Amino acid sequence: MKPVNLGILGLGTVGGGTVNVLSRNAHEITRRAGRDIRILQAAARDLGRQRICDTSNIDLTEDPHAVVDNPDIDVVIELIGGDTLAKELVLRALDNGKHVVTANKALIAVHGNEIFAKASDKGVIVAFEAAVAGGIPIIKALREGLSGNQIEWLAGIINGTGNYILTGMRDRGADFETMLAQAQQLGYAEADPAFDVEGVDAAHKLTILAAIAFGIPLQFDKCYQEGITQITQDDVVYAEELGYRIKHLGIAKRRERGIELRVHPTLIPERRLIANVDDVMNAVLVKGDAVGSTLYYGAGAGADATASAVVADIVDVVRVLTVDPENRVPHLAFQADALSNLPILPMEEVETAYYLRMHAVDRPGVLADTTRILADHGISIEAIIQKKASPGSEQVPVIMLTHRTVEGNMNQAIAAIESLESIQGSVKRIRLEHLNR
Ligand code: HSE
Repeated sequence: MKPVNLGILGLGTVGGGTVNVLSRNAHEITRRAGRDIRILQAAARDLGRQRICDTSNIDLTEDPHAVVDNPDIDVVIELIGGDTLAKELVLRALDNGKHVVTANKALIAVHGNEIFAKASDKGVIVAFEAAVAGGIPIIKALREGLSGNQIEWLAGIINGTGNYILTGMRDRGADFETMLAQAQQLGYAEADPAFDVEGVDAAHKLTILAAIAFGIPLQFDKCYQEGITQITQDDVVYAEELGYRIKHLGIAKRRERGIELRVHPTLIPERRLIANVDDVMNAVLVKGDAVGSTLYYGAGAGADATASAVVADIVDVVRVLTVDPENRVPHLAFQADALSNLPILPMEEVETAYYLRMHAVDRPGVLADTTRILADHGISIEAIIQKKASPGSEQVPVIMLTHRTVEGNMNQAIAAIESLESIQGSVKRIRLEHLNR
């Protein structure tokens, strides 16, 4: 059978890794796909740059349009990132009747509905395993492996850079900036590291996972985003004292009235497997009604790990090139005309437990005033610790863990506590999940 011709857009970390994996494992890949796969052409912004891969057998160009318009190319591999030029190129490739494999989470999370509609129109496939959790085949697991289940919730450590930073802060007492600089050096961080530390990258990935888990359209704009920039060494230490670890989690949960879709730092009991996922590793915990809890773990970033997912998508596309489009696995797991309109819940309706940290004046009745406010709002306390005042300070740090309540209720309680004359400054809140049911 005639070989399948690929055109690669982008020869950076993931593009270079993809070229390497395709070449290193060519024989195994052909045995699996049933056809030879060759890279015909690749576009890179600066052809003079040093690469991590051998490009001597590839037709190189600085013009990505030449690749998507090349009539000899069957599958376009989009690895340039961003959602402007990448969007234009992907839509053009689809218009030209080419299948697309992409690692671009922003593109899929923000423009996926439009891109999938166009692909269906043209009878071609857009595959995006590498967009979420690097090398972990989580899209495949959710879309196919768990298709007998109603997914109840999922929670994932889906930003390697954030996890690397939090792990370093805990294990080495390193500061935030040092860890971020190291993650950048290792090639894990996004071009704009704010995407990693402000929760944008994780929100892109969670949006994609939630759409596939619940059969809803991609709704990135409704995902609550909070990053790790406000997490201090004190929070990390207090959480440990109470038997918890702080992880940056993406959480999507089906509730009766809608879907919770939120990305934020979260305390997790330290005995949970997912609490022990460290450094740049990612993990996604999925709760299905039939299977129960399942956990998927692996490298969330890096050249070869991400290439593993890109190449798996290429093999998938090659295998189904001749399959009638109506009988392919749907892009979002559910048939396009069977998506649900279950709304994304506003953050005020989200239900979770909390870690609260405040600075209180050390005198009788202060704790009682605080706990009364929580009681008046129906919020039950799970644990409480009061630390010693730092030398020269009259204030003592007070840390409380609460049982579950709705966020709107907690907002009111926090506002009332902050208005107490005996509480200094604002109350720090970190959400807490037990992840056990
Ligand atoms: N910046 C991302 C991360 C890379 O740190 O997880 C993979 O998407």
